[in-house]
Amino acid sequence: MISYFRLQGYPFMKNIPVTKLRLSGSQMEGLMMMERVLVSKEIGLLIGESGTGKSLILESLAKKLPQNVYRILHLPDPQGSARYIWRHLVRQLGIDRPGPDAFRELHRQLILFHQEAGRQPVLLIDEAHHLRPEAIEQLRLLTNTTLDNLCPLILIMAGQPELSGHLQNPSYEAFNQRVGSRYRLLPMSEQETHAYIDHHLQLVGAQETIFTDEAKQAVFNCTRGIPRRVNQLCLAAMNCACLRGLTTIGPDLVNQGIEELIEV
Ligand SMILES: Nc1ncnc2c1ncn2[C@@H]1O[C@H](COP(=O)(O)OP(=O)(O)O)[C@@H](O)[C@H]1O
Ligand SMILES: [Mg+2]
Repeated sequence: MISYFRLQGYPFMKNIPVTKLRLSGSQMEGLMMMERVLVSKEIGLLIGESGTGKSLILESLAKKLPQNVYRILHLPDPQGSARYIWRHLVRQLGIDRPGPDAFRELHRQLILFHQEAGRQPVLLIDEAHHLRPEAIEQLRLLTNTTLDNLCPLILIMAGQPELSGHLQNPSYEAFNQRVGSRYRLLPMSEQETHAYIDHHLQLVGAQETIFTDEAKQAVFNCTRGIPRRVNQLCLAAMNCACLRGLTTIGPDLVNQGIEELIEV
């Protein structure tokens, strides 16, 4: 496909460096809302359907934060018991053998880290809809300011819409009160989807038009502007074009791409 379309690499891949990405309007807003909690030292909640760019926003945020001010801790997929999570985080802080009470140990280490290294710990949790209830409640405790006005942990969580549903349970009232920024990530608009397709192709050096405007419209209609789906469909349509010996993609090839994706 690369040589067929005279490209410098595979298009629509997920491993594009964040510095080369152009965020959509909603993604930029989501990123800004999450940056806000760094100042207010509250909890940030980023909600979005699968494939809308939540992980990408967390990654962009991590890249933007100055390392001499913040210490980023990551929890890419918080499945497992709360204890397992605390031990995992203590290890990220450089302690190989957490004590028997992993939560207290984590709290202690966060404060020690703050005092000794002078950097604010920030925890980024992706796939937060997988968090167990006891972990959510204890995470809130980690964000409580200490008597000497120190915030052990700033918490930013990204998850699928079901996370919002879970948090509506009255038992999370205290947690919800601490959420300072809440943002629902939207898919791209039609115009953004067109620009997104062009941008991905430019990144791999496309010189000529590959997708016609009608084809881009068909991609938008079928994917509702969800980036991961756009990637999959555009790649499938390009594969169909290769097989048929065509270099320009119209809506018919996009429809064939859809069929190919459904069959797989
Ligand atoms: N603004 C963007 N520019 C380029 N690629 C993007 C953009 N937004 C999302 N993507 C791509 O779409 C896919 C889905 O994004 P991801 O952050 O993994 O979504 P989520 O975590 O919400 O499921 C990834 O391959 C990502 O690289
Ligand atoms: Mg993700």
